[in-house]
Amino acid sequence: MCGIVGYTGSRQAYPVILKGLKRLEYRGYDSSGVALLKNGELNVYKKKGKVAELEEFMIGKNIDAQIGIGHTRWATHGEPSDRNAHPHHSANGKIAMIHNGIIENYALIKQDLVKKGYQFTSDTDTEVLLNFIEDIQTNNACSLEEAIRIALKRVTGAYCILIIEKDNPDTIIAARKGSPLVIGIGKGEHFLASDASPIIEYTKEVVYVNDYELAIVKPDELILKNLGNEKITPYVTKLDMELAAIEKGGYEHFMIKEIFEQPSTIFDCLRGRLDAKEGLIKMSGVDENIEHLMNANRIIIIACGTSWHAGLVAEYIIEELCRIPVEVEYASEFRYRNPIINKGDVIIAISQSGETADTIVALEKAKDNGAFIFGVVNAVGSSIARISNAGAYTHAGPEIGVASTKAFTGQLAVLMMVALDIAKHKGSITEEKYAELLNELESVPEKVDAILKNADQLKAIAEKYKSASDFLFLGRGYNFPVALEGALKLKEISYIHAEGYPAAEMKHGPIALVDENLPVVFIATKDLYHEKIISNMQEIKARKGKIISIITEGDNVSSEISNDYFCIPATDELIAPILTVIPLQLLSYYVGIAKGIDVDKPRNLAKSVTVE
Ligand code: M6R
Repeated sequence: MCGIVGYTGSRQAYPVILKGLKRLEYRGYDSSGVALLKNGELNVYKKKGKVAELEEFMIGKNIDAQIGIGHTRWATHGEPSDRNAHPHHSANGKIAMIHNGIIENYALIKQDLVKKGYQFTSDTDTEVLLNFIEDIQTNNACSLEEAIRIALKRVTGAYCILIIEKDNPDTIIAARKGSPLVIGIGKGEHFLASDASPIIEYTKEVVYVNDYELAIVKPDELILKNLGNEKITPYVTKLDMELAAIEKGGYEHFMIKEIFEQPSTIFDCLRGRLDAKEGLIKMSGVDENIEHLMNANRIIIIACGTSWHAGLVAEYIIEELCRIPVEVEYASEFRYRNPIINKGDVIIAISQSGETADTIVALEKAKDNGAFIFGVVNAVGSSIARISNAGAYTHAGPEIGVASTKAFTGQLAVLMMVALDIAKHKGSITEEKYAELLNELESVPEKVDAILKNADQLKAIAEKYKSASDFLFLGRGYNFPVALEGALKLKEISYIHAEGYPAAEMKHGPIALVDENLPVVFIATKDLYHEKIISNMQEIKARKGKIISIITEGDNVSSEISNDYFCIPATDELIAPILTVIPLQLLSYYVGIAKGIDVDKPRNLAKSVTVE
């Protein structure tokens, strides 16, 4: 949460920072701001609202500077407002800082500073850390770098900070713990950002800064140190990402672009890993660690949000194909419990961003207990990818819309391949079933394409039900987690209250909600449970609920019971969730649009939840 950008070099800093903030806006959009430094003059400009509002506010301001920092905020301490927006000034006005994270012991530090006479102009933990640094620098008569080091040893919580100082005309000091930081290396210039999207336009050479590292960044020099003041050699990597991947490419929103990208993202995910003709799955992360995975006593899946839903689907698939017990945990619960982790347990971590704070801490805890961690991550080089002992990237490309879409189908495709690969090695799947599933999986991109061709049908359904105040999503078996995902998507981007349930569980309570005003979305594809779900549909119909169903092509029974329906191509029930979720993504998108909501940046949310 919160996006940060910094630049030092020979270009005008403001346009680089502004463009970077627009690219990082998915991380938070409550307020934004920049600090620009030129000839000893430190100008800070900030504004409540989206980056566009800052851009307008900046018209006519002095933006001439070759060094600067910028921030787009997701509020933690203090409401969204101009005064709580970053950057913050230190009390003596000499230092400006931006921060992504939370300083947990800020209240105690603030009390001390207040006793010393410090006055605060915001409600943020950031301003406390900044004045703490200033106070240390004044008392110890030390350099800013030294003061930062001392301060960071005393704070608890998470941070990525960028600091500029009046008396240091070309230097940005950065540090991270728990919040991401990438530094792009140009010719006589450096770019700093929360992820690579603001950097990719200028350079592909980057350094991912690690926790407890401090970067001293000048146009021609990048020095990395640990908090003990020892130098570290920066490890330069090449970005495997194109600028086009982070632009809208003619679509109105990132979300719809990302939904429509799914035939190619799923294809990219399968490419080089799955060969149905040869009957092969090659996943180096699995094959090189097959003993760990195949002989796991238990698999614990740890994730949040949509990634957690992918984990639920994986639970059903892995237990079915590999006969290994699976538990699926919310990272935020797991990290604070005293979970039993035994030798022989394998953790699968699922995350799009690879930066979700709860998931990171849960994994660190599991790792400390000796667990083997397999990461299913989309963002290459992210923290979770680096914490994992092994893993498989989803290769969905950058996902910018706050609602996760293509990352989810990528996660399902990867998890399916992981399960098939383990099952094959373990001998827990028959040759026929293995071959059948490989063929089915290979045909998924084509089937997704066919679904997307009928997107307009969902637009019409969305138009019809957009004014509903509640929705129920029901599914059974492999489609139960899809019901949860459909409800989450709708909540996020249409602000309509929605709940997902296993269809049969509906009788144990939620059925009380059913009346002629309640749309009930059934994921009712042809599978083992088909007749059962038809009965559940009848139960809703008998109570006058409005049935919207996602059904398999040619299913006349379900279509007749439904008020509205959408057909998907037939597939194996294990693979169905990759197809059934797509109409639900589209339904949510079109309802959100019909209600005039900014679907890429829905209220109160941020793409990457880097605070607990
Ligand atoms: O980046 P992650 O997959 O770890 O993120 C987990 C959740 O924050 C994320 O899936 C969230 O629920 C999305 N907004 C759902 O669309």
